[in-house]
Amino acid sequence: MAKRRTKAKPATKPKAKASSLKLERISTGIPGLDDMLKGGFVKNSTVVVQGGAGSAKTLMCLQYLYAGATQYDEPGAILTFGEDEDAIRQHGRMFNWDFSALEKKKMFTVIRFSPSEIVKIIGEGGGIIRDTLEELGIRRLVIDSVSIYELFFQNKYQATESILNLLDMLKKWKITTLITSEMQVKPNGESKGNVEFLTDGVMHLYLLRTSAKRYRAIEVVKMRDTDHSSDIKLFEITPRGLVIPDGAGIKAKD
Ligand SMILES: Nc1ncnc2c1ncn2[C@@H]1O[C@H](COP(=O)(O)OP(=O)(O)OP(=O)(O)O)[C@@H](O)[C@H]1O
Ligand SMILES: [Mg+2]
Repeated sequence: MAKRRTKAKPATKPKAKASSLKLERISTGIPGLDDMLKGGFVKNSTVVVQGGAGSAKTLMCLQYLYAGATQYDEPGAILTFGEDEDAIRQHGRMFNWDFSALEKKKMFTVIRFSPSEIVKIIGEGGGIIRDTLEELGIRRLVIDSVSIYELFFQNKYQATESILNLLDMLKKWKITTLITSEMQVKPNGESKGNVEFLTDGVMHLYLLRTSAKRYRAIEVVKMRDTDHSSDIKLFEITPRGLVIPDGAGIKAKD
């Protein structure tokens, strides 16, 4: 074969166009959060939402699913070990999110298994869960919560191994997943969990208190492959769900 003449290489490689590096994003459905994430969640990523009791983890996740189903035509599902279907529907009713109507249209599904079932299913490759998600064309998934899931195991090692398996499966199934983790987090403290090392992204929900009042704040702690806001932003629970108003973030010492 004739040898091809090679052109002299330029001294520096041309940089890849920014547009060719652009990641596909999906909107979070939470006003203000897409801006903090520079455009939304990275498609097919897995993000853990960490916060203490009542910090609005479940609410945020339901809003993500509701927005996906109603605004972006993306069917969603929640894999839950704690709350039952009625509690979820009731959460939604407070914000006029009609999950029952979405269930009828197969745009929203609650997946519940007993602890022993779920451990077995994941251990065997996730068969039934995968089939359910595939059949319904699920694009957005919520797992509420990984802290309860961890309780199904005899030790931390087994729990972490199973969570890793689950995360691997989700990557293959091309689903954008939010996982809640019950953990008291503080703006100036370090979080002590281990799931945050395994996921693509980490967000903290804070329920802070001064002597006079309680307020809520959100921080994007980690988001692989993308720039994100480093502010800790106040947010509100309004009649239409979580809203992060425009404005400067608060400082960690506040
Ligand atoms: N309609 C509403 N208006 C204002 N605040 C609300 C409303 N509904 C719920 N909340 C607030 O949201 C909190 C519950 O949020 P959510 O259940 O999402 O928290 P969570 O972080 O999932 O808690 P847990 O760790 O117990 O599961 C309530 O304690 C309440 O303070
Ligand atoms: Mg909850």
